Amino acid sequence: MSKNATLEINGEKYEFPIIEGTEKELAINIKALRTATGGITTLDPGYKNTGSCESAITFLNGEEGILRYRGYSIEELAEKADFLEVAYLLIFGELPTTEELNKFHNDIKDQSHVDEDIKKILDGFPKSAHPMGVISSLTSALIAFNPSSVNVDSPEDMYLAIVRILGKFPVLTAWAYRKRAGLAMDYGDDSLGYVDNFLKMMFKKPSGEYNSNPVIVNALDKLLILHADHEQNCSTSTVRIVGSSHAGLFASLSAGISALWGPLHGGANQAVIEMLEAIKEDGGDTKKYMAKAKDKSDPFRLMGFGHRVYKNFDPRAKIIKVAADEVLNDLGVEDPILDIAKGLEKEALEDPYFVDRKLYPNVDFYSGIIYRAMGIPVEMFTAMFALGRLPGWIAQWREMRLRKEPIGRPRQVYIGENHRPFKDIDFR
Ligand code: SDX
Repeated sequence: MSKNATLEINGEKYEFPIIEGTEKELAINIKALRTATGGITTLDPGYKNTGSCESAITFLNGEEGILRYRGYSIEELAEKADFLEVAYLLIFGELPTTEELNKFHNDIKDQSHVDEDIKKILDGFPKSAHPMGVISSLTSALIAFNPSSVNVDSPEDMYLAIVRILGKFPVLTAWAYRKRAGLAMDYGDDSLGYVDNFLKMMFKKPSGEYNSNPVIVNALDKLLILHADHEQNCSTSTVRIVGSSHAGLFASLSAGISALWGPLHGGANQAVIEMLEAIKEDGGDTKKYMAKAKDKSDPFRLMGFGHRVYKNFDPRAKIIKVAADEVLNDLGVEDPILDIAKGLEKEALEDPYFVDRKLYPNVDFYSGIIYRAMGIPVEMFTAMFALGRLPGWIAQWREMRLRKEPIGRPRQVYIGENHRPFKDIDFR
């Protein structure tokens, strides 16, 4: 296999090195392209063919439906690890020992208080504010209350910033829910596990006791693991590029939360449930929505279907689909939209439009059904995605900073007006 790629332009030949990753992925290193060719660049809208970095965190193989965090398969991690273990693995590169995990959790608990003045900012939002806008704003607001987490040049400062946001983000997320529900904001209980404590902050009744439900705790823990990282997706690329200007971790995460909010990305889990509800209201007429999804004149897409990388199946969707049945069964919940979802999946996977375009259910297609069964309102679904993706964003931001990646600054092809003289207003 040649070690170089040759590009010929106007009779001139240029050679660029081909690099190979540890999973035998090949890439043409075009770092020298513009200089070597006197200004020629590439154009790749959506970066469908362009690698932004070398990373050792997550490996995906879209053709084979493979997802691994630091070399461990998502199937094994979802089955055998818990979310905080996976967070540690993604961020620091190895599964923690018992001592390391306990210290990590204790350090996070020590940093889980949120300045009371943050509640004053939260008070300023209308109850109807979408939780993603609230948690993006409050994540950015945390900077003012934790200024030492902005410039994290030392390993100690970076570690403190990491445990700070892992401690505070679940609080902000739970408070965003309680704000909408008109409930008092409170803290959880440090004697509980990370995910159990989050659920307590979400669901503890003002006058009642909070009783952990292991079915819900385990299901949410598994969902958060499945969402924890996904290499250079839209929101992670946002976190990396914002961080590449040496903006702080919290500012970079706030930007990532906003990117995840979009319905083509993390916002899809909310859009899936709204779509399934609409189909149910429509008498379960899945064929009408399939036709809309295939109609180019109709902007409607089958939400929860398709993926930039997975062109066979999303391994996370397979795990969540099984978990959805188990959780609803364990909770004794009947949800007709699960059957609608399964019917839609079956029809789509037999329809040439979807098969030809390799459109399969993605992570967002079934996750909302589990969140719903847990009593989480649909407006909170994408915030749950953010809670799961937080360690992945942190890991990617940390890797980008430790590798001293250059500031992200893509080029363009200008297609506007050529130079023209100014025209006085009286002559326009
Ligand atoms: C996530 O990148 C990640 O890793 C993201 C994520 C993560 O963990 O971070 O996995 C999480 O964001 C999952 C995706 C959630 N989004 C949705 O479910 C929204 C619906 N899906 C799509 O909008 C779409 O499939 C994307 C955005 C996910 C992927 O879009 P691409 O790769 O840019 O593909 P495309 O838009 O160029 O579509 C290719 C063709 C087009 O048709 P043609 O022009 O070839 O005729 O497929 C069609 C599209 O119209 N198509 C769909 C479709 N998705 C693609 N048609 C109907 N319904 C869909 N859902």
